[in-house]
Amino acid sequence: MASDFTQAIYALGQLLLFILPAYLANSAPVLFGGGTPIDFKKSFFDKKRIFGEGKTFKGFFAGVLAGTVAGTAIALPFNVYGLELGEKAAIALLLSVGTMIGDLVGSFLKRRQGLKRGEESFLADQLLFLVFALAFAFSYKPSLISEIGAPLLAILFFATFFLHKFFNVVAHWLELKKVPW
Ligand code: CTP
Ligand code: MG
Repeated sequence: MASDFTQAIYALGQLLLFILPAYLANSAPVLFGGGTPIDFKKSFFDKKRIFGEGKTFKGFFAGVLAGTVAGTAIALPFNVYGLELGEKAAIALLLSVGTMIGDLVGSFLKRRQGLKRGEESFLADQLLFLVFALAFAFSYKPSLISEIGAPLLAILFFATFFLHKFFNVVAHWLELKKVPW
């Protein structure tokens, strides 16, 4: 019989494989973004940018592509909540699209609050992408909610917050990002 420790590692590994497409989608734009902004430099009714200069078409599609392709490829040889190959690909796509839409919604809200590109917003930067990613994935396969379970979902939100902080500090060190968040 597997020990509690092995079981915990297995549960966390499965959770990481499941959410990896969202993390990859969230990271890729920093490397591959740039070019035409999605709002075409247009302003909203409040005369502030709709999304801002940091949300580009290239970044959006790089996120979707990286999350879907790399996320599916990495999950391929593993058991992820008993998902079939087609389901793994569909969920990777939904997590990635959800991530990029959540990221846009976050920037939209930041601009409405008068925050400039790159200014920090606790919810919009660190957790909104996860909410959208999960909403997209769970609406496709609701049984995943009980399969993962409340305790691990809570851990996912906590861990994502700290991982996001950590990786942005690393990206800042590597001079990929101007600010460490
Ligand atoms: N990026 C992009 N396209 C996207 C999302 C991100 O090109 N759809 C790139 C941009 O170069 C952006 C960087 O990835 O500056 C980091 O993304 P993020 O932190 O989400 O954007 P911020 O520049 O901080 O802008 P905001 O204040 O709107 O969050
Ligand atoms: Mg940012």
